[in-house]
Amino acid sequence: MKKPIRFQKALSLLLKGEVVAIPTETVYGLAGRIDKDKTLKKIFALKKRPLFNPLIVHCYNQEQALEYLSGDTSLPKMLFDFFAPGPLTLVAKKNSKISALITAGKSTVALRIPKHPLTRKLLKNLSAPLAAPSANPYGRVSPVSAFHVLSSFKNKVPVLDGGNCQKGLESTIVFPDKKRKKIFILRPGIITKKQLEMFIHKKNLNLTVEYKKDPFQPGGQSTHYKPDVPLYIIETQKEEKEIRKFLSKKFPDRKLKKLHLNSSAHQTAKNLYSQMRRLSKYKETILFIQKTKNQEKGLWKGIWNRLNKASSAQYRI
Ligand code: TXA
Ligand code: MG
Repeated sequence: MKKPIRFQKALSLLLKGEVVAIPTETVYGLAGRIDKDKTLKKIFALKKRPLFNPLIVHCYNQEQALEYLSGDTSLPKMLFDFFAPGPLTLVAKKNSKISALITAGKSTVALRIPKHPLTRKLLKNLSAPLAAPSANPYGRVSPVSAFHVLSSFKNKVPVLDGGNCQKGLESTIVFPDKKRKKIFILRPGIITKKQLEMFIHKKNLNLTVEYKKDPFQPGGQSTHYKPDVPLYIIETQKEEKEIRKFLSKKFPDRKLKKLHLNSSAHQTAKNLYSQMRRLSKYKETILFIQKTKNQEKGLWKGIWNRLNKASSAQYRI
């Protein structure tokens, strides 16, 4: 396994227009300059991501982010004031400084101000934003360590090692819509609906928060976040023994591995992708997870959003 690269090397590669995997507090990103089409195309190609699926632009601070928006930016500004730097991605009307390649021809752009100190230092030194989708092959599990990136891309991508990601689950993507008096959550994530409602309350705004499926979101795709072996969700109040009996009958020649959920959603999010990768190393294995009640709200919403998309099927027994 190749070694990760150092900060100065990452900086010079990015300046040259190369693609480098960078750490963020959520998951690692596959980053490149936003002003070079060749670089952007390389990101799509490495990830095998279809060109119709837009990229998130990572900025150093609010001032830089707002440079790329048009129209009324008062609500984006307030959201960044409150949540940035942090795991919130904001979708808003773009201006002509953002190329159509980044947004897949859409009139909006997704902007995020990440919190990881190494990536902040990179963005500060570059004095320019970085486009970065999660650093995994399209449709597969996101990476939460430099090792995950190196192994997913068979060492083809240089990685700046920033340790294990603190949050472990992707950012929450929001689309504030002042006209409709809504903040739409396009992808649930680390920032919860309740936190957004708290923001509205504190700022005394006449808005409500609503989940919305966006066709460009992973929700619009049939598969996403897939581990290397099938994952089954079992909805039941029965004991684990009964789940194992059911699955052994259905898949007699497979070994069964259980994905564990911690009672803390934060701990679960932090370990989820590493656990999925670790348990799916062996081809003859299947993974299962027990769906329990009381895991619909808060950060659990994001966790189950990913698990539902990662799963091959769900059974109720
Ligand atoms: O935590 C994160 O958000 C990580 C780290 C690296 O920042 N990034 C990440 O990127 O999860 P990605 O590309 O794997 O997921 C971003 C999602 C994609 O599903 C994409 O379709 C959506 O954001 N997206 C990007 N631009 C959009 C836009 N203008 N409107 C709606 N959705 C957009
Ligand atoms: Mg992704």
